[in-house]
Amino acid sequence: MEFVRLGTTGLQVSRICMGTMQFGWSIDESDSLKVLNAAFEAGINIFDTADVYSNWVPGNPGGVAETILGKWMKNYHIPRDRVVIATKVRGKMGEGANDQGLGRVHIFQAVEASLARLKTDFIDLYQAHSPDENTPIEETIQAFDDLVRDGKVRFVGASNYNASQLIEALLKSDENKKVRFETLQPKYNLLQREEFEAELKQVCLKMGLAVLPYSPLRGGFLTGKYRVGKPLPKSTRAESGARYLTDPNITVLDKLDEMSKSHNSTVAQIALAWLLADPVVASPIIGATSVVQLNENLGCLAVHLTTQEINILNDLTNWKTVNAM
Ligand SMILES: NC(=O)c1ccc[n+]([C@@H]2O[C@H](COP(=O)([O-])OP(=O)(O)OC[C@H]3O[C@@H](n4cnc5c(N)ncnc54)[C@H](OP(=O)(O)O)[C@@H]3O)[C@@H](O)[C@H]2O)c1
Repeated sequence: MEFVRLGTTGLQVSRICMGTMQFGWSIDESDSLKVLNAAFEAGINIFDTADVYSNWVPGNPGGVAETILGKWMKNYHIPRDRVVIATKVRGKMGEGANDQGLGRVHIFQAVEASLARLKTDFIDLYQAHSPDENTPIEETIQAFDDLVRDGKVRFVGASNYNASQLIEALLKSDENKKVRFETLQPKYNLLQREEFEAELKQVCLKMGLAVLPYSPLRGGFLTGKYRVGKPLPKSTRAESGARYLTDPNITVLDKLDEMSKSHNSTVAQIALAWLLADPVVASPIIGATSVVQLNENLGCLAVHLTTQEINILNDLTNWKTVNAM
């Protein structure tokens, strides 16, 4: 496994981060534990989760992915200092007015609930899942600062922030001498580049934030398993996967097919290798639903694209010239 410094935190994290959003609904607990064990055995040391996972699924109350991760660490005696646990706060966890958001009261409740589910006494990276327009950013930063001082959280990060929201947060941290967001978790993959590349990328580079891209395979589409005329794969995400079969995306898949043949690799590995080739990317967060998928995706670490290949992929998916996908 290769490791990379997580921004300015000093933490060394694996170049692939294990996502957990699929646990407890796309795959059951037993298979989730198999994926976690295989990921750890392969050298992955950073695991991303969120308190809300996956409360959008009927019958899933949220907290399920954190609970599975906590059980795994406890039941398999995973040394706490061998894993970097990243979770998130912001989503709706109950019906009360303070059961969501980035206000002080909710953050303090949410962190205790996450710690209990994760069966740990600290969180390595506590991330704001998305901005909260109803709470002044100073209040959120103060609450995060208090959690770091209390030892409940080591570092904080942001997800789904736009550039001006991120800059505002970083400036407030600096002005008030409080903890600052050390990481950004944006949606970023070969087919969804504009949101990150237009402005956020420069902010992260300039401010030394580590980037942890989520949905690196666009929910499975960038594995090449969705094809015109082929039956849909068995997946909780099959419907959206089928919708991405547009002409520009098919052209990208054709190119990925060609490159995967010349690298003796797979489409997914090329798509992940494209992300890893960008120095701004610390560790893409993958979301495998089986050990087979996990192992395939880990194979991307052995794929090194040439500058020419990267340029070809960049041109094909250039958001300034290619229609939105
Ligand atoms: N911050 C945020 O707002 C946010 C949002 C979303 C995700 N995340 C984080 O990012 C992680 C990854 O996101 P994601 O699940 O959207 O990532 P993704 O890599 O784009 O999609 C993962 C899905 O693709 C399919 N897949 C993956 N590898 C495959 C392979 N080799 N062959 C065939 N199918 C494969 C699997 O679904 P099927 O087997 O069902 O097809 C898997 O669940 C999440 O677990 C979560 O930790 C964060």
